[in-house]
Order: sequence, then structure tokens, then C-alpha cells
Amino acid sequence: MEENYIWHPFTQMKTADAPLHVVRAKGCTLYTSDGKQYIDAIASWWVNIHGHCNEHIASAIAEQAKTLEHVIFAGFTHTPAIELSKKLIHILPDQFAKVFFSDDGSTSVEVALKMAIQYWHNQGIHNKTSIIAFENAYHGDTFGAMSVAERNAFNAAFNPFLFEVKRLPIPTAGNIETVKAQLLQWGNEDNVTAFIFEPLVQGAAGMLMYEATCLDELISIAKQKNILCIADEVMTGFGRTGKKFAIEYLTQQPDIICLSKGITGGFMPLGVTVCTQQIFDAFYADDKMKTFFHGHSYTANPLACAAANASMELLVTEKCQAQIQFICTRHAAFAESIRGHSFVKAIRQQGTILAIELNTAENSSYFNAIQINACRYYLSKGIYLRPLGNIVYVMPPYCITENELEKVYAVISDSLDYLSYPEPQSH
Ligand SMILES: Cc1ncc(COP(=O)(O)O)c(C=O)c1O
Repeated sequence: MEENYIWHPFTQMKTADAPLHVVRAKGCTLYTSDGKQYIDAIASWWVNIHGHCNEHIASAIAEQAKTLEHVIFAGFTHTPAIELSKKLIHILPDQFAKVFFSDDGSTSVEVALKMAIQYWHNQGIHNKTSIIAFENAYHGDTFGAMSVAERNAFNAAFNPFLFEVKRLPIPTAGNIETVKAQLLQWGNEDNVTAFIFEPLVQGAAGMLMYEATCLDELISIAKQKNILCIADEVMTGFGRTGKKFAIEYLTQQPDIICLSKGITGGFMPLGVTVCTQQIFDAFYADDKMKTFFHGHSYTANPLACAAANASMELLVTEKCQAQIQFICTRHAAFAESIRGHSFVKAIRQQGTILAIELNTAENSSYFNAIQINACRYYLSKGIYLRPLGNIVYVMPPYCITENELEKVYAVISDSLDYLSYPEPQSH
């Protein structure tokens, strides 16, 4: 029986199916109050990288809770945050020097945008008033994050309140010269603060993917034209794309990176925005007006930092890295096995992310009517998948077993026949 007091996110409360009441979870399995179980094949909104209730992370949080649960982070510091900042700087590419903490993916993006804007302001440069983002981008649900995202149904009500952004299509072999020319033209106008992008994979847009070489060319132009580059790795970070970070596929590097989701292994909300020394230096001054006036009550929460430290310890183990490679290989083999199916319009893979675009009569979109039938079908087979409209994707915790992964593939494979019938079949 659903509680009456809760308003669920991204949910039309009038028409949505009753939510599943999860009572516990272990590894990749969610157990519900009605005695059923489901394989969590999308890592609970892409956050869970080591499986549910991972004991190493759970113990780290429990230990930390008995030592220091929280303390204001202005004027105070603590060991879990110090350790985490060291780990992040060590694991990230060389240009990064300073870690700024926040609460989730959206706030890590807000911080990045504000940091970039104030970077120029602090140097007395006031003509840089525009930001460049990709078409179809998604960067979160707060106002800055919505502004740099594609204008669509998610943010239509807020449109008059969002700031204007210049938009580039994601680069492909076919359009790269036009996209470069556009970026160069805006760069020559010398009024661009920053270029923000989801490197290699636009998640919420439907797992749209593009080549690292194309992004390299754009970052290179941005750098020549004094445009700060912000990589939003909220989804792609911590192994999702096959490497620890998607920017490891690049030769040109961003100035700022936003991280969240997998950072704590899915245990605690936490966001970080990591920047170069050069950016930090623009705020480092005797002048108080150059301070970065931003912070949240739970900034660098010690429990979240302890979870993140434990999660990163697991991420760098050979076992975890081997699991990531195993998923990459199995995804590729499964993709080949269904590529010719008439109900498959396209298949995309980047590392542990596999997306299958279903060939429906309706156009590809988040609101494609097949979504609801697909969701129900997968649940009826014990798999939790949450297609983005007609785009079914698999993004499992890295600890998924071969049997579990095979079961997910088998159900998707069967669904291609089942869902392609004109009328949904009863089951
Ligand atoms: C690329 C990207 N940026 C930012 C966000 C927002 O993160 P959060 O939901 O933690 O606010 C998301 C969430 O899906 C995302 O995919």
C-alpha cells in the first residue's frame, strides 16, 4: 500500500503505477515487500557501482558515524574529506588541483558554472557573458543546470527564468567541420565564459554517443579562444565508460570536472567539482570579494566522504577493473547478437553502457508510448530496467554476475519479439 504523503521524482503521480516497495537489497538484487526480487540493471539511476549494501562501504560509513557524523566545512576540515581529495587528485588527469564539495550532480554543475563565471569576474573581465552547451544536453534540475540543458518538456515551465545558452550539435564525422566553424566564430567574438559537455555519452538524452576525437578538436578550439571547458562526468565518471573517467579517452583536457553518482558507490549523496590550479588562483587573494561564496550545509559530509573513500578503494582493485572489462566484452557480444533484429533501430555501446533503440512507429523520444509496456514487461521478468522512451539501456553495478547479466540479456532479447507486436500481449 503506497504511502499518501510522498511526491515521487520524475513521476506523474496520477497515472504512474504504484511504486515498488523495496525492503532490502544485496549485490544487484532488489527485494520487495511482496516477496519478489529484481535485478537492478540500471544501478539505481546510475549511482550504484559496487552493488547494494556492499560491506566494505557499509562498514566505512558505520565506523565514520561513530567517529564524526558531520561538521560545518567552513573553518573546519576532517580526515575523510582530506583523504578523498587526495584520492581524487591522484586518480584524475594531471591538470586537476583543487576539489570543491557539494551535494549531488546538479549542485556539482552549479558550482562549475559559478566557478567559471567568477573566474573571469575576479580578473576584471566582464564581457564574457555567454556559455556554450550541446544540443540534447542534460546537466541536472537546478536552475543553472536546467539553463545549460536542452530546452524540452523537463524544463518548459521554467523557460522564461533560464539564461540563454549557445548550442552546438554533438559532433559527428559528418558535421565536425561545421561545428568547429561555429565554435570558432563564437570564440572570435571573445565573450564566451565556458563550454560545458557530457563527454562521450549524453545520458538522459537517450545514451547518445560521440567520438573522443571530435570532442578533442572542440576542446582544442575552446582553449585557443580562452573558453573554460567543463566536463560533466556525473554519469560517466568512476568506470562507466570502460576507463575510470571518460576524459581519459581525450588528449585535450578540460579545466573543470563535475562528479557525483558513482562517487559513493550509491550509498550517500555527494558531488564534487574539481578544477585546475589556474582557476583556484583567480580566487586566491587578499581581496574578500574574490571569495567563492558558495556552500551547502552538508558540504563534504564525513559519512559521504567515508563512503566515497571506500568506493574508490574498491574501484581501483584488479577485481573491479576486471569486472568492468567483463561487462564491456559481454555487452559487445550481446549487441552483435541482436543487431540484425527488425525491432532494433540502433545499438550504441560505450564501456559498461549499452543502449538499444527500439524501432517503434513513433519517433524516438522520452515520451515514446512503448516505455510503459517495456518497463512492465521487464519487471514481470524480474529485471529492473527504466527505458528512456524507446531507448532501453543496461548500466549495471560492476559486481553483476555472469548469470545475472545473461538473464538481463535474455529478457531484453525476448522483449524485442514481445514488444514489437502491434498490441501488447497479456502475460
Ligand atoms: C550528466 C549529468 N549531469 C548532472 C546530473 C544531475 O545529477 P543529480 O541527479 O545527482 O542532481 C545528471 C543526472 O542524471 C547527469 O546525468
